[in-house]
Amino acid sequence: MGDTEPLVIYHLNDPAIQPSNNSNNTNSSVNNNNNNVTSNIPITTSTPENTFYTMDQVKKHNKATDLWMVIQSNVYDLTPFFDQHPGGSIILEGAGKDSTYLFEDIGHSDDAYDMLDQYLIGKLLQSPNIRDSF
Ligand code: HEM
Repeated sequence: MGDTEPLVIYHLNDPAIQPSNNSNNTNSSVNNNNNNVTSNIPITTSTPENTFYTMDQVKKHNKATDLWMVIQSNVYDLTPFFDQHPGGSIILEGAGKDSTYLFEDIGHSDDAYDMLDQYLIGKLLQSPNIRDSF
């Protein structure tokens, strides 16, 4: 995995949803040779649900023009929201960080929680605690 590339998890056991070499791989069809049936199942592309970022990657997006944040293990790209934040530029306190506590401690409204969805780009890739392996 490159330093700035997300890790995308595909469902490798399902032949119908393998990533293809097709440059435009949305809405492609798959000829499933296992049972001679041509299906029209769309090939899976990266979505926020199968895209993972490390905290090191998140940390690099730490300014108003490139503003990522982790809240409850979700990674958000809030760059387009910076100018719209009702609380103003204080949002930068959470830039490039795990801001779960900061976001919740303000007592944001349910509306604020709902707004998060549209900025979701992935999940936080958390490594297991090394002490657990002993
Ligand atoms: C962790 C970084 C953030 C900090 C420090 C922060 C801080 C604040 C503060 C201090 C206010 C109160 C403004 C006032 O009452 O005058 C506020 C309001 C608000 N913030 Fe944030 N904010 C953060 C992230 C976010 C995010 C990620 C969203 C949504 C995508 C958001 C949405 C809102 C909304 C909608 C309000 C208006 C009041 C409400 O509905 O809760 N904020 N914020």
